Amino acid sequence: MNLTGRSLVTIDDLSNGEIAAVFALVDEMSYSIKEQLTVCRGKVMASLFFEPSTRTRLSFEAAMHRLGGSVISAVDTKATSLAKGESIADMARVVGSYADIIVIRHPWEGAARVVADYAGVPVINAGDGGHQHPTQTLLDLYTIKKERKVIKGLKIALWGDLKYGRTVHSLIFALAKLGANIIFCPTPGFEVPEHVIQKLIAEYGGELERLEASEQAGKEGGSPLDAIYITPGSPHQLAMMPNISIQVELKRGVDALYITRPQKERFATGEEGKGLKTRYPVVDKKLLKEKEFEKTLIMHPLPRVDELACELDTDPRSMYFKQAARGVPVRMALIALLLGAKEVTVPDKEGSSTGIDYPAYRQDLGLKCPNPRCVSVQESEIKYIKPSFKRVSTKPMTLRCTYCEHGFEPKYVASSHWHEGMLEYKKYHSAESHWARTIRPENLIVFNSAGEAEARGFKPSHYATVPHKKNDG
Ligand code: NCD
Repeated sequence: MNLTGRSLVTIDDLSNGEIAAVFALVDEMSYSIKEQLTVCRGKVMASLFFEPSTRTRLSFEAAMHRLGGSVISAVDTKATSLAKGESIADMARVVGSYADIIVIRHPWEGAARVVADYAGVPVINAGDGGHQHPTQTLLDLYTIKKERKVIKGLKIALWGDLKYGRTVHSLIFALAKLGANIIFCPTPGFEVPEHVIQKLIAEYGGELERLEASEQAGKEGGSPLDAIYITPGSPHQLAMMPNISIQVELKRGVDALYITRPQKERFATGEEGKGLKTRYPVVDKKLLKEKEFEKTLIMHPLPRVDELACELDTDPRSMYFKQAARGVPVRMALIALLLGAKEVTVPDKEGSSTGIDYPAYRQDLGLKCPNPRCVSVQESEIKYIKPSFKRVSTKPMTLRCTYCEHGFEPKYVASSHWHEGMLEYKKYHSAESHWARTIRPENLIVFNSAGEAEARGFKPSHYATVPHKKNDG
């Protein structure tokens, strides 16, 4: 396999075979961690951490030192020219001329994508806002694999803040493509974002079982449960026999419980943080006495706050310090591969990506990503980053931002092809009307409001205001 020169921005950048091959090299690095000093000799890694970090930054830097390379770093945007108004793209170009590889953590979603687009050297996403954290996922998967030998068919429960936790977003897609069954156990109000669910269903072909409130109420032991995602790789009896209770299924045992802290720094409103101490469930000895957790791996990306009791630290099921320690060999293997200092054989090619090549949304009529934390919104004043979208569905009409991957359903559509010269045909229609599906991707224009459409000189068509049945057309 040759990963030389590639970047890791989202977990989709690695196929299943490539993940397996990386893990083979992690094994090698772990056994002889002190004997790798010549692997990246003479290479320089830029470590750019514009959000707090202990484990990720230090394990990346330790990894590069253990490979015999050197590290240059910036840990605060205030101490860089970003504070003077420099664009991320300019910074990426410059840092790419100083270093052979860049590791970046940034609060804006999609920032690592921009750095990868402009740096000219491999870029590793060490966490971009609430979007993704693919190297944490690699070490999480590596831990599950080491402890359980396989990942396919396992039942993994994700617990806590599934809305803002970037580690869980990367992990969800990785588990899905590796054929695990995922159980979502969010703290109420912190459910997995709808665009993540939509991508899971559309691109990983899975099925989703939503748990009825009545079923939840009957659950003992206090674990919240929102939905079960069943992967297609290992057809699950729930998928085939929908009447079987999810609770019964849970009682058969969970292979891993992945706990996350509330990501307070990303809360959109003060409301989200209210009463968190009582709302956020704590994983402790009492909960783990439940039969379903008898042989469960207790995982956490760390840092923990109050959601994971210290009394579990000596419990043999607890994996979190092992996970953190494995960060060094995992990152050593990845850096060595991206720098072309090592090569490994890929066992298979399956699972490389979902293979869906969605049409790009091409009109440049001022459409903005609705996610305020997206890099394309934050840097919209700087002309480098043009908002960029893919049309991922026509029913309902859905666009996805190329940077932060948020999906959204615009309200109105129009065609840029309105019979040249005949302005009376310059009309906009409801995105739910059959017109939306007749517009060719290259001509599609979308608007989030009627005001936006009218400001661009479009008039409402008969299909703009008339309510339509969901399934028309
Ligand atoms: C995570 C992160 O930064 O997203 N930490 C880590 O990298 N180990 C999880 C967190 O901060 O909660």
